[in-house]
Amino acid sequence: MNVKPIAGPQHGYASSGSDVAECVLAVEGFVLEWVRGTLLRNGPGVFEYGDDVVRHWFDGQAQLHRFAIAGGGVTYASRLLQTRAMRAIHEEGRLSFSEFATDPCRSIFKRAMSVFAPQVTDNALVSIERLGQRHYAMTEAPMAVEFDPETLETLGYGPPAPGTMATAHPHHDPASGSLVNLASSYGPVSAYRVFTQSPDGSVRRLCSQRVTRPGYVHSFAMTPRYVAHTEFPFVVNPIDIPLSGRPFIENFRWRPEQGTRIIVWDRQTGRRVGIYETDAGFAFHHVGAWEDGDRLVMEYVDHSTPAVIDALYLDKLRAGERTVHSDRPPPRLRRVTVDLPNGRVGSELRAEHAIEMPRIDDRRHLGRYRAVYGIAAGPDSDYDTPDHIVKLDNETGDARTWEQAGCYPGEPIFLPAPGSCEEDDGVLLSVVLDAGHERSFLLVLDAADLTELARADAPALIPHGIHGTFTPAAP
Ligand SMILES: [Fe+2]
Repeated sequence: MNVKPIAGPQHGYASSGSDVAECVLAVEGFVLEWVRGTLLRNGPGVFEYGDDVVRHWFDGQAQLHRFAIAGGGVTYASRLLQTRAMRAIHEEGRLSFSEFATDPCRSIFKRAMSVFAPQVTDNALVSIERLGQRHYAMTEAPMAVEFDPETLETLGYGPPAPGTMATAHPHHDPASGSLVNLASSYGPVSAYRVFTQSPDGSVRRLCSQRVTRPGYVHSFAMTPRYVAHTEFPFVVNPIDIPLSGRPFIENFRWRPEQGTRIIVWDRQTGRRVGIYETDAGFAFHHVGAWEDGDRLVMEYVDHSTPAVIDALYLDKLRAGERTVHSDRPPPRLRRVTVDLPNGRVGSELRAEHAIEMPRIDDRRHLGRYRAVYGIAAGPDSDYDTPDHIVKLDNETGDARTWEQAGCYPGEPIFLPAPGSCEEDDGVLLSVVLDAGHERSFLLVLDAADLTELARADAPALIPHGIHGTFTPAAP
């Protein structure tokens, strides 16, 4: 009989309960003087509604967390995002909007009507992006939710995306200050649409591609010249979404025989450069992309199949099930090289070590990089929940790790040391769930060798989060 250790990650899948007013954290170690600014994190904070519970980790209601760092000290606050979806739960004790894998009970008539007016959730629990001076919480819905980065107060909605869904991972275009994103429009004629959102709120379509069976899309690749959509063969007949009675993601089907299509557009002209093909796979996250002459090179975290989505149902996470290595391969860094003129596509895994929630030095966004930071569950772990931080070298495949028994870290974010151009000269920030002590802490690591510099204890356990962003303090 497999006896699991006491300090499992399951506590991180419980509802956090309530907001936390700003408080000063006890710091152990030494937070470097130059580490000054605000770490904002997003993720699910409430899983129950009425007497029921949402089905999937991606369906918890959004909670924002704020770590403010200055002068070696750290403060913490958190606040639930005040969305229409959250208000309905508070006021009516039920879900009113369709979430990723949980649907409100609706009649056939209401489902049919939703073909024309989809009740897509505004529960923006996935990521945080800046557009000009504004901060947005995002999910795959076409509306981002603006919030105040100081108070975490919900302010309203951002400019609408031109589609039924859009990714929570837009790219910043440094040349224009805009966000570039990819929408999926579902209907009698479905399409992928690349579009920009400017700081003034204007939305402009750049390019599009009609598609009969759209693929599930979580992120995409961009370089100074190109946008590339990696269409993994996890596809949907769009009419099934409103009419099947199944939640959104359960309408998608795995069709590995189709392979993976890579649709490449020229960002300047909006014209399609080509559609290229490679082996079937599945990824949530692109890591980065760059141009090498006439070749487009991109990297993503390949799960091989979409089985990872099934592993993230809340009942499995709360039960502490282990599926990586037994039922599915671990996620690994894959590099795909597209020779644009002649259509040849190369594909290779770049490291043995598993990785997810990949981050790079953001100064290298749209260009070449070597260090990839992320988290992973070790091959000997009893759980799917990542139990260590990993730094991969995408040239040598070497891996460094940080881990501590009973601790489950979240996405690490890299901050460069002021005045340094070295790729890994800086620190990593990660919010870690310490299951043994049923609390969480902010961890500060030296990015070069992943040695611990400091940790700051939060006053309560913070549920496992998804993505976040760091805004440096003004000099
Ligand atoms: Fe993501």
